[in-house]
Formats: sequence, structure tokens, C-alpha cells
Amino acid sequence: MEAILLVGGQGTRLRPLTISTPKPLLPAAGVPLLEHQLTRARDAGVTRIVFATSYRAEMFTDAFGDGTRLGLEIVYVTEDEPLGTAGAIRNASAALTGDGPVLVLNGDILSGHDISAQVAAHRKSDAAVTLHLTLVDDARRYGSVPTSPDGRVLDFVEKSANPPTNQVNAGCYVFRRSVIDSIPPGRVVSAEYETFPELLAKGETIVGYVEAAYWLDVGTPAAFVRGVTDLVLGALTSPVVRANEHGVLLQGDASVASSARVGGGTAVGAGASVGADALVESSVLFDGAVIEPGARVVRSVVGHGARVCSGAVLEDCVVGDDATVGPGNELLDGARVWPGVDLPATAVRFSPE
Ligand code: GDD
Ligand code: MG
Repeated sequence: MEAILLVGGQGTRLRPLTISTPKPLLPAAGVPLLEHQLTRARDAGVTRIVFATSYRAEMFTDAFGDGTRLGLEIVYVTEDEPLGTAGAIRNASAALTGDGPVLVLNGDILSGHDISAQVAAHRKSDAAVTLHLTLVDDARRYGSVPTSPDGRVLDFVEKSANPPTNQVNAGCYVFRRSVIDSIPPGRVVSAEYETFPELLAKGETIVGYVEAAYWLDVGTPAAFVRGVTDLVLGALTSPVVRANEHGVLLQGDASVASSARVGGGTAVGAGASVGADALVESSVLFDGAVIEPGARVVRSVVGHGARVCSGAVLEDCVVGDDATVGPGNELLDGARVWPGVDLPATAVRFSPE
């Protein structure tokens, strides 16, 4: 089976991490984030994937080449200007070789759902499109998708203040090929705002494949940290995560001092180091990150080559590549340090009053 992968977005909510790297390529438990979904799709019978790229397209080619390393055939179609989700699907379809149903994947999702079962449901119903749907607590950031008791999609309401249901579009579709061919070519088209509502208005059948497996949209720093730690702890099984112990995944020549406490699903990149008596809990350290002795890092991301100096405290924050957080700083609650910034000693303190 062939697939199209949507990876042209800019990942703005994950800045500064996505200034240098597209979101789907951020290092997530030893491999690019995307690799977890790619290998799951492969294991469900996908043999060939067309990457629909735009932002920093060449980095995808560098990471995955022709796909041989993963046992897949990968080809690339790049939009000069982003064409929107359906515009990207239409544009990428020129590189498909068959005319059977096409699996379409958002590139920023971690999902444990059964892709083969979704494809089987699609073949059985012969729908125009079959959408994976899942339940979330707050549907306002997603496409809200009510269905009838027999699973037919009744409406598709993208990002609204009053979503009709907490059942949402999970970003994995099976399209009948002729439906892709009917998307207008050469212009920006949104699947969520245009294609799906228009298909429903025309009376076409869209089917919801509801499965409440592990599911996460990795759109924010907090979600990224959550996704990586879940992969390390095994809350989501991935074909490409190595077995690990004590809730820590160490890459290559990473080093952790014996008196440091590191756990909670922390991923430590190649060449990264954690000094004596430091505490690193449920965090993501990119390659070459340095946590000096006695520093405290909780639910945070520390970028490539960035340094957290002795006695600094990070909670729920992001330090960009090659930045330095000087000794004694306290960065809490969503703080983001831009790449290359050198934060002097005790420049930022948190005061609860
Ligand atoms: N090639 C290309 N061109 N890809 C694009 C473009 C484009 O113009 N715009 C977005 N993408 C890709 C993104 O890179 C991402 O992988 C995917 O399409 C979805 O875009 P996001 O920007 O992440 O959308 P979202 O998270 O706000 O909402 C979407 O996903 C939700 C589930 O995570 C929608 O599909 C929602 O309905 C859905 O609930
Ligand atoms: Mg998203």
C-alpha cells in the first residue's frame, strides 16, 4: 500500500526548537519523531511513502534518503509555497504509482492505533475517506467529528470554540484515490476546512474509525516532552525504541555521573552529559547538552550543545541549541531560551509572591 505523509508545517508552537529543525525531525527517543509513525505504517503493510514537504524540505531527504534503512521506498514532493493539507495531498499524488486506497498521515502524531484495522474498515465500507477518530478532554484545538451510531461522519468542525463532540480527527486517513483526484490542483486547499465539509455536503460517505489507543499531537513543548518520555517508559511501544532500564534512554557516548538522579523517561542524547548530584526528571536532552553538577531539570528540553550551569533550575521549559543558562537561574513554567543566548548568573529568579 502507498501512503502520503504531510510534513510541510512550520511547527511554530514548538519554537525555538523548530527554528533549525522541522517538528517531525526533532530527536525523540533516539530517532527523528516521525520515525515512530513511519515504522508503524511499514509494519501495517505500507511499502512506499510520498513525503509532502515544504519547510526545510532538504532535511527530510538527509534524514531518510530513499528509505532503504527503514525497509521502505520513500520519495519526496516539495511545495514551493505550502499548499495546505489537501493541496499537499493532491500535489503529492502525482508521485503515487498505483490507484488503490491511499493512507495519509499527519507528520506530528504519535499513535498506537491499529493502522491495518483502519485500512480494513475502509475497504469494508468503501467510503470516500475513513478517518481515525479519538477522544480528547478538550476538542477546541482539533477537528471535532460527530458520528452516527453506525460510524458515519455527520460533520467536521475544525478548531471551534464550541466543538460539537470531544471525538476528534486523529490525523490518519485512508482516501479513495478518486477523491484525491477531485481536489483542485495548484492552489491552497485545506482538508479540514474545505475537503471534508464539502464531501459531506455532497452526500459522500466519510467513515470514522474510532480507536482509543495511545494518541498524542506533538504540537507544543509540553506535548513533545510527554511523547518522548512515554516512548522511553513504554507507554507507547515503538518498533524503533531500544529497551532501557530505570526510565532513562542513553544514546551513544552520553555520560551520567553516578551521583546524578536521572529518570522519569528522560532521553539523553549522544555526547550529552549530566554532572554529579544533578537531577534530571522526565526531560529531553539533545546531543551534546551539558547539565552541570547540582543543576535541576524537570519536564524540560535542553537543545543541542546547550549548557545548564551548576545550581540552575529548569521546570517545564525549553533551552534552545547552544544556549547557556548561567548558574543559579530559575526558569519555570513555559520559559523559552532562544538558541545561542547566554543567560548570565542568577539573571532570572522565580518569586512566588
Ligand atoms: N506539505 C504540507 N503542506 N504539509 C502541511 C501543510 C502544508 O501546507 N500544512 C500543514 N501540514 C502538515 C503539518 O506538517 C502536520 O504534519 C500536518 O500537516 C497537520 O498540520 P498541523 O499544523 O500539525 O495541524 P493541527 O495539529 O493544528 O491540526 C490537525 O491535526 C489534528 C490532530 O493532531 C488537523 O488535521 C486537526 O483536524 C486534527 O485534529
Ligand atoms: Mg499537529
